[in-house]
Amino acid sequence: DKGGYKHFMAKEIAEQPNVITDTLDAYLTETGIALPPPGLDLRKVDRLTLVACGTAFYACMTAKYWFETLARLPVDVDVASEFRYREPPVSPESVALFVSQSGETADTLAALRYCSGKAASIGAVVNVVESSIARESDHVLPLYAGPEIGVASTKAFSCQLTVLLILALKAAHDRGHLSDEGLAEKIAQLRTLPGLMNQALTIEEPASALSRRLSEARDVLFLGRGQMFPLAHEGALKMKEISYIHAEAYASGELKHGPIALVDEHVPVIVMAPRDHLYDKTVSNMQEVMARGGKVLLISDKSGIRQAGDGLWASLTLPEIDPLLAPILYAIPAQLLAYHTAVAKGTDVDQPRNLAKSVTVE
Ligand code: M6R
Repeated sequence: DKGGYKHFMAKEIAEQPNVITDTLDAYLTETGIALPPPGLDLRKVDRLTLVACGTAFYACMTAKYWFETLARLPVDVDVASEFRYREPPVSPESVALFVSQSGETADTLAALRYCSGKAASIGAVVNVVESSIARESDHVLPLYAGPEIGVASTKAFSCQLTVLLILALKAAHDRGHLSDEGLAEKIAQLRTLPGLMNQALTIEEPASALSRRLSEARDVLFLGRGQMFPLAHEGALKMKEISYIHAEAYASGELKHGPIALVDEHVPVIVMAPRDHLYDKTVSNMQEVMARGGKVLLISDKSGIRQAGDGLWASLTLPEIDPLLAPILYAIPAQLLAYHTAVAKGTDVDQPRNLAKSVTVE
């Protein structure tokens, strides 16, 4: 049941404030965090291995920034299809987490089996708790996203990010890098997320108007720095997957190492830059694009957009947010732009060509 929406994807994008509330309710207590499950102890581990495919991989890539910065825990992150055949050394003091909406992705399951018996413990971050990946893990961290029908993963992604951020905060606290007050403050910030997501959803109209212009492009570039770099990847994947427009993501700082050669007035460049400590750097990369005639769409908050000055092709304004939580909020414009571009192109949004919801063969 599409609940009055034209597509499951639109419904699932709109459901995000509610499913994030469910996820927060499941993992946050009044005073702290009800995570990790007993036995999944991140205090003594020497590494964390995060493995997944597609959108779930981008959730892992974002989580690397959180675990390393907050908990000082080194993270190896990889796509399952590469990880499984590389014979990577797995430390017996490490924890390996496998992230999957369906819990049935063949490569992710094979990577899990490779780590089983080698790592100290195996965790599954899954939406389907009766899935193979959940069954073969020592610990299951459910997502509470509810059934996701659209092939493009949307609400499962924001729930994956939320669970991984909560786990990173807990690890930071347990490992002595975050005080009780610091943790309580971050938990209070997390509680504001559903309200901010509701506000972010109000950009749907301008996003849809912009998407009609994006739908004429042949190539689109997505740029981000720090924890917005994985989000740039996620934006590009969504765009490719459902609108069939070629989209690529780069770390903003990589621009002058090659991709800036692509920039001309025909290539929209979508920059995701909340006003965080990396904002100024990203803006200077953005100005390099504009100086070469590039059409920049800046996604930021009010002060970020004001600060960017003249010369933007377009902008989308999101509410201000604790920079740590920004990737979860900025998933919404990435999803809306892909969705409306696909609608403008008339593609089969919920069932894009050549793709399956659950990839159970490698
Ligand atoms: O069920 P999983 O999370 O393991 O699926 C992984 C990918 O196949 C999936 O995220 C895919 O990239 C999506 N269609 C992206 O929107």
